Amino acid sequence: MRIIKRKKDIEAFVERNKEMGLKIGFAPTMGALHAGHISLYAAARKENDLVISSIFVNPTQFNNPEDLEKYPRDVESDLQLLRESGFVDAVYLPEIADLYPEGLATKNYDFGGLENEMEGKFRPGHFNGVGTVVEELFRQVKPDNAYFGDKDYQQLAIVKKLAAQVNPQISIHGVGIHREENGLAMSSRNQRLTADQRAAAKLIFETLNKVNDWFRIITVPEINRRVKAIFDAEKDMQLEYFEIADEETLQQTDFFYKDRSYRAFLVVFVGDVRLIDNLHLD
Ligand code: PAF
Repeated sequence: MRIIKRKKDIEAFVERNKEMGLKIGFAPTMGALHAGHISLYAAARKENDLVISSIFVNPTQFNNPEDLEKYPRDVESDLQLLRESGFVDAVYLPEIADLYPEGLATKNYDFGGLENEMEGKFRPGHFNGVGTVVEELFRQVKPDNAYFGDKDYQQLAIVKKLAAQVNPQISIHGVGIHREENGLAMSSRNQRLTADQRAAAKLIFETLNKVNDWFRIITVPEINRRVKAIFDAEKDMQLEYFEIADEETLQQTDFFYKDRSYRAFLVVFVGDVRLIDNLHLD
């Protein structure tokens, strides 16, 4: 596996491989890799000749400086995991200057309103940061296919819009949520949970499954009330938001329309660790 550190080197590497007609699959990450990431690479491996990943903790998408500071970083063990997976041909480890040659500024995107829902409300500026870094990574890596986890479902929807706006040749693929045995969605942030918190956090997926049982049987306001009550009863967990939203527009709904599909979205603080999850309702 090749380790590439500078913009000029990734660009030269990509150009050489493009000249040979190789199809490139790309999965950008912020490191602290886990089995969820490996499933992105496995999907990329099946559909491409060359698989590239990047590891870069992107400062502009953190609206909370403490979250950025505490974000887990361990490049050596990430590289080890990448090698062991056998799915990845090259990993790009850029410096800030490779992605932000003019300093840490972000672009202002219009993603048709998707950016103002959920994470957009609670993490102002987050999607401008994601958009700016992903657009630049796409420019340098020039993938044919790019892979993102369904766990950050809103991010996936936004990246699809971004690619359509800036580089429609890139196909964006969502990869299903990878879960721990107890149902907790895999996340780099899980590393910051104590064993007790990790066990308790199974409540998140259990609650999403309850919501699925209630779907189209109980009214949305009543579901909202029940979810709030579940987390209000937990002293170490704090519900930041729960929403049932239209899967396409991501707008919160108060009513289940027959011909629309819906997904439940939830963000919970377990101690000071912010966990996000979602479930398609059927
Ligand atoms: O999902 C992530 O890890 C990040 O948001 C991404 C897409 C790598 C951009 O920094």
